[in-house]
Amino acid sequence: PALSMHARDGLCFEGVPLNAIADAHGTPVWVYGAGSIRARYAALTTALEAQKLNVHVHYAVKANDHLAVLNIFRHLGAGADVVSLGEFLRTQRAGIAAADVVYSGVGKAPVELAEALGAGIGQINVESAEELEMISAIAGRMGCTAKVVLRMNPDVDAGTHEKITTGLAGNKFGIAAQDIPALYARAASLPGVEPVGIALHIGSQILSPAPYAEAYAKAAAMVRALRTAGLAVSVLDLGGGLGIGYGDEPGMPLAAFAATVRREVGALGVRLLLEPGRYLVGPAGMLLSSVILEKQAGDKRFIVLDAAMNDLMRPALYEAWHGILPLGAAQLQNPVSPADIVGPVCETADCFAKDRPMPPMAPGARVAILDAGAYGAVMSSSYNARPRAAAVLVDGGHFHLITPRQSIAQLWEDEAVPA
Ligand code: LLP
Repeated sequence: PALSMHARDGLCFEGVPLNAIADAHGTPVWVYGAGSIRARYAALTTALEAQKLNVHVHYAVKANDHLAVLNIFRHLGAGADVVSLGEFLRTQRAGIAAADVVYSGVGKAPVELAEALGAGIGQINVESAEELEMISAIAGRMGCTAKVVLRMNPDVDAGTHEKITTGLAGNKFGIAAQDIPALYARAASLPGVEPVGIALHIGSQILSPAPYAEAYAKAAAMVRALRTAGLAVSVLDLGGGLGIGYGDEPGMPLAAFAATVRREVGALGVRLLLEPGRYLVGPAGMLLSSVILEKQAGDKRFIVLDAAMNDLMRPALYEAWHGILPLGAAQLQNPVSPADIVGPVCETADCFAKDRPMPPMAPGARVAILDAGAYGAVMSSSYNARPRAAAVLVDGGHFHLITPRQSIAQLWEDEAVPA
């Protein structure tokens, strides 16, 4: 619905012709849709409310940390989940209350913890005994009390790509379940920290409620065990990971997910948090790119784009599949043949799609690489001395430049050459 094809204007996103955006700001350019973000947030919260669940959504900033995106979440009333001081300060810059921010991550540096505590961060998700002691010492010195939750590794296979699974024993994340009760008791006795609950996050791009059911059942059992031991538990952080449909694959069924939450943890009497990133912003963004040339190498057809793996890294890093659509309506009338769609970077991995049926693409013709709103721009680099792409936000039928294209001279403006 957000994407539509018009005979004259070609591919449109939230009613705006994508060619108009590329004409105005060039390519490669990221395009995010405010309406799509709001609609996805509403779909998720509505599904949870339909189960009579009061779940507070903490948007996972790592998925897309642009201030304009964070501003949308602030207006929606969402909190945030951050994994670095940089992400935390972005949320503060965007006006999200520090009390509505939770801080996750396996290695938080002392300076990061001190700054976040000084600003009144709402919750710190602790990932080890060592980190608990560190937070206690820092908060104790600062004369404040950190609300902490212990991140439990539930040892559940989320069934996703090995590089994005996090909840298995042997992953670097979280604390083994058997170690939680003693550590929770230790936290209750330490100065500077107040243990308020349990967190878990089992991985990303999860497409079925089944692994959540398994993990949440373990979390519920843990909450009950802690309470039996006389420890107070008032928060359960359910993590993120809700998957989206890349191509024809269906995304996480929200109603079934919400029913799972209700069934497994709905009766615990805890404040529930959810940390979705990709689900909220992935399908709400795309990368527009122009064809530099088509080349034929032996039997093989290549379409070479002006976007590359330094812009959108997911295909190179995870062999991720992204839909790629020509922007021109006329192109869709033409017969297709398989082509590899690649970028100009000098790496074989710089390939967006293999053997994708595509019409003939003349130099300058444009494509949209879909579902790139999450883990797109945030993971980009300037490898091969390629400046960062521009970004545009579509809202209410208009588009706004939210990041100007980086100039080539900006690539070296901070570099120094010793005399
Ligand atoms: N909470 C924690 C503790 C996380 O580690 C993550 C993601 C999230 C929440 C949000 O997960 P989401 O709802 O977005 O799945 N770069 C990879 C994804 C890495 C996810 C890392 N952690 C990709 O492009 O697929």
